Amino acid sequence: MDAREMKVKAAEAALAHVEDGMRLGIGTGSTAEEFVRLLAEKVADGLQVQGVPTSERTARLCLELGVPLKSLDELPELDLTIDGADEVDSQLRLIKGGGGALLREKIVAAASSCMIVIADETKVVETLGRFPLPVEVNAFGLTSTRMAVERAASRLGLNGEIKLRKSGEDTFTTDGGHHILDASFSRIPDAEALANQLNLIPGVVEHGLFINLASFAIIAGEAGARTLKA
Ligand code: 5RP
Repeated sequence: MDAREMKVKAAEAALAHVEDGMRLGIGTGSTAEEFVRLLAEKVADGLQVQGVPTSERTARLCLELGVPLKSLDELPELDLTIDGADEVDSQLRLIKGGGGALLREKIVAAASSCMIVIADETKVVETLGRFPLPVEVNAFGLTSTRMAVERAASRLGLNGEIKLRKSGEDTFTTDGGHHILDASFSRIPDAEALANQLNLIPGVVEHGLFINLASFAIIAGEAGARTLKA
């Protein structure tokens, strides 16, 4: 099974949890896009759902494929969100934001009764941090905020490189008009402590540590899809 087939397997298994009439949060990234494609087929066959996209990119795909969309203000409480992840550990702590949509993804996940993470086996880790942690920051005071992130991390013994994300020659800008610092810590042994520290920094808009948000994960591997529960 190649990487795309695994994403499709995870997306298929997640689709089985979607019921008629549901208000759905729809994630961002290549795995979430496989879910959107499968969902669109069901919608074409008569499934009635209303989706809230977590990014402009996902919104465009949904519109192209005929998945009905609402804003989160129109549907402030959601039944289910299905989204990918960059890393997931055995306690269902996640790193997200590789696609730059972490802020809307976290708001949508927090507004949902249930969040299912879809991923392939390569995303499962013992300790978070191999994937650089995305930290979304306000453009104002970027250097001060970056230094504050460095200090906060350093207090926890985390001293990796923190890089401003680029998109070609330009600084990457999120759907919310912010920038992203990618923090390469290699290992984040205490994700809760780091999340708490980052939450205290004024210029940090949001960070990619998703803690106590995922209900379960569907992990696809060579042998098929398995459910990961905390
Ligand atoms: C976007 C995300 C994605 O869910 C994450 O990057 C995984 O993407 P992919 O399914 O393409 O590996 O957090 O902000």
